[in-house]
Amino acid sequence: MTPPENPEKNNNDSFDDAENLNMSQNESQNESQNESQNESQNESQNESRNESQNEVVIRASGLGFSYDGSEPVLKDINLEIRKGEYVILTGKNGSGKSTFALCLNALLKPSAGKLEVFGLDTASSKNLSRLRKTVCIVFQNPYMQFVGDTVEEDVAFGPENLALPRDEIVRRVDEAIGFVGLSGLRLQDPATLSGGEAQCAAIAGVLAMNPDCIVFDEVTSMLDAESAGRIRHIIDRLHKDGRTIIFISHDPAEILRADRVIVFDKGTVSFSGTPADYIENGAGALPEMTKLLIMFREHGCPVDICGPVNAEDVFRMIRPYLRSWEICNHDWSEKSAIMTDLKNLQSWLIWKICNHDWSEKSAIMTDLKIMRNLKTIQKSEKSWQKNKTDTALSRKKLKRRWPDNGSDE
Ligand SMILES: Nc1ncnc2c1ncn2[C@@H]1O[C@H](COP(=O)(O)OP(=O)(O)OP(=O)(O)O)[C@@H](O)[C@H]1O
Ligand SMILES: [Mg+2]
Repeated sequence: MTPPENPEKNNNDSFDDAENLNMSQNESQNESQNESQNESQNESQNESRNESQNEVVIRASGLGFSYDGSEPVLKDINLEIRKGEYVILTGKNGSGKSTFALCLNALLKPSAGKLEVFGLDTASSKNLSRLRKTVCIVFQNPYMQFVGDTVEEDVAFGPENLALPRDEIVRRVDEAIGFVGLSGLRLQDPATLSGGEAQCAAIAGVLAMNPDCIVFDEVTSMLDAESAGRIRHIIDRLHKDGRTIIFISHDPAEILRADRVIVFDKGTVSFSGTPADYIENGAGALPEMTKLLIMFREHGCPVDICGPVNAEDVFRMIRPYLRSWEICNHDWSEKSAIMTDLKNLQSWLIWKICNHDWSEKSAIMTDLKIMRNLKTIQKSEKSWQKNKTDTALSRKKLKRRWPDNGSDE
């Protein structure tokens, strides 16, 4: 595996033009002089970022790492990541995820085995500068990454260190800041940005380096839902451009967004596979809504358990089954998790009521009625259990109370 000689092409976004200004990744001493020449070369070669998706760009072979020289934090890691993959790296606290990330751009060097990144051996000092351009890391706390007095100064820091011509630095900075939507804040002190804005600024700083692979280490964990969504959207666009994305997260809801999920456990890889495999194998924590979907499937409801992870979509998915399905046929003699899960749905509906736009005539009332009925059923559950012989009668009553074809008034 050899490193790409030239930068590769984005094709969809506003940052695409900046991509054409990619650094040549050879070891040339005259990077700045060669830049304009590279630009024209890039025109023809830039298409390749989305090509050769099968190329392995990260290969860990028996990788081990120890901070103190004795107790290993990473143990015999063997894994491959392919070009353009979107990998979620998850696992318990202290399992070595961040340590692995730091190994990727040689901030840490292997204590055992080998780590090759875009064909570069991370153990070799001569590969350092190329590795730092090829793989960039965005950390959980963006404020620790800032070095400039303004956003634009901060974003310019990386390209300045690459000794690029001034006009190219300006162009990269403009593109990167525009890409993350911070144009209006470019003169603000990054230390005064909100958490979400600060994370965007940190991403812009990384983008200005135009890396092939970006590691996001728990970048959304301190953000509110809206800011986290904004960051995810930016990451999705970067992935669409063909960049290799490694997203480190504890949030099980993230897993469905990835091409592949890798789970670390005590410094080893305990699972690597598709999100569907992860869910089917119960390889780690599952999103709450996925658990709910699994429960519905277990009760005979033909839902896609790798489907939505937000309550609204899940509810929409299961709604057709709520009217006629399991509840009427449920064996109430058996203590079942179903009621707990329905309670979760109920909580969601209460939240929904508080935030609902009542000016809009909505089907939600029908759903609320259904949930009210469920509550009644729930209350009655105990007494049904006492008298199992009444089950048939109860079912009859239920069916009357809860007809199969409820109208959406
Ligand atoms: N600079 C360091 N010096 C010594 N030990 C460290 C250092 N950084 C991390 N460790 C140790 O290495 C182990 C793995 O830490 P690491 O931060 O890689 O885990 P993680 O999976 O990223 O955890 P988290 O999910 O909490 O971020 C932990 O036991 C931690 O204490
Ligand atoms: Mg970590």
